[in-house]
Amino acid sequence: MIGSSRRASWAFWLSTVSICLSGQIALAAEPAAGDAKPNAADEHFNSYVLPILQKHCFECHSHAAGKAKGGLVLDSRGGWVKGGDSGPAIVPGKLDDSLLIQAVRYDDLEMPPAGKLSADEIATLQRWVAAGAHDPRIIDTAKLQAKVDYAEGRKHWAFQPVAHFAPPAVVDGSWPLDPLDRFVLAELEAHDLKPAADADRYTWLRRVSLDLTGLPPTPEQIADFIADGSPQAVERVIDRLLASPAFGERWGRHWLDLVGYADQIGTANDIFAEHAWRYRDYVIAAFNADKPYDAFIREQLAGDLLPYRSAEQHASQLVATGFLLLGDLSVVEADKAKLRVDVVDQQLDKLGRAFLGMTLGCARCHDHKFDPISQHDYYALAGILNSTESVQKAEWGIWSMPTTVELPESDSTRAERLVAFEAHQTKLATLKAERDQLRARKAEIEAALKQSPPAAVAAAAPAVASAASTANSASPPASREAAGSTDISPTHATLEKIRQETIDRLKKLDGEIAHAEFFTPARPRAFTVRDVATPGDMRITIRGDAHALGEPVPRGFLQVVAFRGSPNFTSRESGRRQLADWIASADNPLTARVAVNRVWQKLFGEGLVRSVDYFGKPGQRPTHPQLLDFLAEHFAREGWSFKRLIRAVALSRTYRMSSETDARSRAADPDNRLLTRMNRRRLDAEALRDSMLVVSGRLVASHGGPALPLEYLENTGNLNKGSVNPPSFRLGRFRPEQQYQRTVYLPIIRSAPQGGPGEIRNVFDFTQPAEFAGQRAITAVPTQALFLLNSSMMKARSRELAEVITNDSTDSTLRLERLWLRVYDRPLTDAERLDALAFLDACRKDAKAEASAAAESGAWVELCHALLASNEFLMRR
Ligand code: HEC
Ligand code: HEC
Repeated sequence: MIGSSRRASWAFWLSTVSICLSGQIALAAEPAAGDAKPNAADEHFNSYVLPILQKHCFECHSHAAGKAKGGLVLDSRGGWVKGGDSGPAIVPGKLDDSLLIQAVRYDDLEMPPAGKLSADEIATLQRWVAAGAHDPRIIDTAKLQAKVDYAEGRKHWAFQPVAHFAPPAVVDGSWPLDPLDRFVLAELEAHDLKPAADADRYTWLRRVSLDLTGLPPTPEQIADFIADGSPQAVERVIDRLLASPAFGERWGRHWLDLVGYADQIGTANDIFAEHAWRYRDYVIAAFNADKPYDAFIREQLAGDLLPYRSAEQHASQLVATGFLLLGDLSVVEADKAKLRVDVVDQQLDKLGRAFLGMTLGCARCHDHKFDPISQHDYYALAGILNSTESVQKAEWGIWSMPTTVELPESDSTRAERLVAFEAHQTKLATLKAERDQLRARKAEIEAALKQSPPAAVAAAAPAVASAASTANSASPPASREAAGSTDISPTHATLEKIRQETIDRLKKLDGEIAHAEFFTPARPRAFTVRDVATPGDMRITIRGDAHALGEPVPRGFLQVVAFRGSPNFTSRESGRRQLADWIASADNPLTARVAVNRVWQKLFGEGLVRSVDYFGKPGQRPTHPQLLDFLAEHFAREGWSFKRLIRAVALSRTYRMSSETDARSRAADPDNRLLTRMNRRRLDAEALRDSMLVVSGRLVASHGGPALPLEYLENTGNLNKGSVNPPSFRLGRFRPEQQYQRTVYLPIIRSAPQGGPGEIRNVFDFTQPAEFAGQRAITAVPTQALFLLNSSMMKARSRELAEVITNDSTDSTLRLERLWLRVYDRPLTDAERLDALAFLDACRKDAKAEASAAAESGAWVELCHALLASNEFLMRR
């Protein structure tokens, strides 16, 4: 669905063009004319007219919904002024000439289609149009592109080639450690500001550990670093972190935020995305292997078309194209032409934002209103994706599924699979044998019941019942009891009961067999794309309507980013390879800049360009344009290595700054745009949960694999291949180890907030996987405090942590020192020791009714809980 993925960006537009389209305004009684106030016309529109449009029309006629039915949008004044396919929707003052009024009167058109508005609502709209249709939602159209002027457009900084800048001269030559520090310091000196002092070593270690791996340092790692007085100590820490598998788990998750990754296909119907995890594991492995970013781009866009040297490489490249597929696809859409153009739109929108920092989707229905991207550009790119097969009709039913492919197997995985297959066949045969026996038993019982009236069954019944009960070892004790005692003849009622139990067991068995058959070990598959049989150019879809086709547009790239002449596509290829090459080129002014800016944002909390997903005209300008280009140039020139870039930044003096600063810097640079200090940040949901696992000593490693525990029958829904509904899941039971694995490996479901081990994500600003966000929102809401106080996860981690601490030593002071080092990654202060001892005493007194041992351990659990819920633990400074 284009709507959901676009919501975020549209909200962004609203703030830049300052119109209000989305605020939900309650319907209220319209006042009598005469109580006019200043701006009364605006207020009247916002209070009475807009709510009617929002409630009854936006669903099909607005940008927020991504829909312009009949070519009409009603979320701006320009929308109805220009009108839809039949021209202007309103002629101010003229009710009978206004299509919108005719439509709501049900004269000719009938709007909204589902049912006529109330007489009051129609009267309100009529009065509004009759009085001149005052609409304050005016966008400064002078600023909008009349016609896309590429030459003018290229003047925008982001479309300019990445320039070469030497690090500038600075006054305080002793401060910079890395060339990048000179750019930062020069800017500070120009503003007569000083950088903050270096953070202390404990703070730095916690910061860099969390930023690079999403995990805090362990007490041993802290001790090692503090003891290492050599100049290379810092470097050693960074190299250790970059080499740890936790690095890929952290940075891979950042990438997944850009992809709309979930273990569910679409949002509706709870369809499981059985193979999605392979893409997740591919991304984690790519970061761990430091796959060059240009190769990472090529594989995700065109992995199926690239050469390979081994079966493993081939498999991994096929899996990579999951990038194009793992979004919020509405596969149950019955209109397949619409589904196809919507999938293309989603792919284009995703690659535009993830790689290029552009909102390409805005040029689907009209030329981009703010950036030099024409509708022609959109369809030139769309033709490439339209020549790519992404979804197919499902094996059965009427919905569609992402395309899949069998992956090439290595000898060892093939051997493993065959062993699993044998075991599975044996299990299936056992289940089926049991089913046959139960069916026979049911027939016998039914025959006995039929032949004999209730009073006369006594003679026949014992034999049948005892045979049946030995055949079914799992039969409930009640029936065995009744059947086993041959001296008392079972009554008709007892036989009825056995029959019912047999039926129940058969039903359960049918489910187990269907489940086993559905999940027979098979060759591994992945979601991938492939070129269609006859690739070609795409026709414009008018206002995004798949059935209203305009002229065909030759395939190509964005004209504003033309650095290589126009590509040539043969009639045998989609052009995805060329598209990937164009994006993954050092000459593309957007790609490297967008990437290094994302890295900067993850390390500093804010990007050099603060609108990390949008480098277009109304987006933010870089705070340090030369630094951005310096980083981008080196990144692309030195092998597109994320690890190398992250290493350089983490080693810099800038990254070492304390987040504390003097009042003067704070006043001069309240938003820290000049980087007078480090930004503080609250940990995200994953880092929070994972940190608690580390602190309580419970984190267990995972090697990836399927996230959804579909092996549990109760987690599956419909598995019937004859059904009109797609196969589905209902997640209720988790694998025991999932409680202790990193959050990135837990199942991600779009359709509903999840309980279970990943529950914290619902509360701490996890990116909704139907949306797209290179930078997560950081909110502070009461539900977070409630979660920290009451959730079972917090209680479990507090108990486990208290156990570790109290087992360690019996001395309270020693325990406190160790606790502080574990949770805050720094030594305990004297004042804190006294506070903590007093806190423990108070807890013991509160629990006076309990045995003293229980009161003692309870007090430590309380203290651990207080620390885990504290601000210091939640923050990275
Ligand atoms: C469920 C979707 C839906 C809703 C809700 C809806 N419309 Fe429509 N509208 C359409 C479709 C589809 C068309 C295209 C014409 C057609 O097929 O009937 C359309 C066309 C129109 C047109 C004609 C555009 C043109 O230029 O041809 C007007 C005017 C209009 N709608 C007004 C409204 C108003 C006003 C509302 C709210 C009171 C509304 N619509 C609510 C689906 C909807
Ligand atoms: C589904 C089709 C569709 C998509 C996608 C779309 N628009 Fe529009 N937009 C329209 C229609 C229809 C109009 C009204 C006619 C016109 O101005 O072309 C419009 C008008 C506008 C206007 C002018 C409003 C005015 O009052 O003059 C702006 C600004 C705009 N769109 C911005 C965007 C942005 C930004 C995006 C991407 C987030 C976007 N549009 C995506 C259909 C669409």
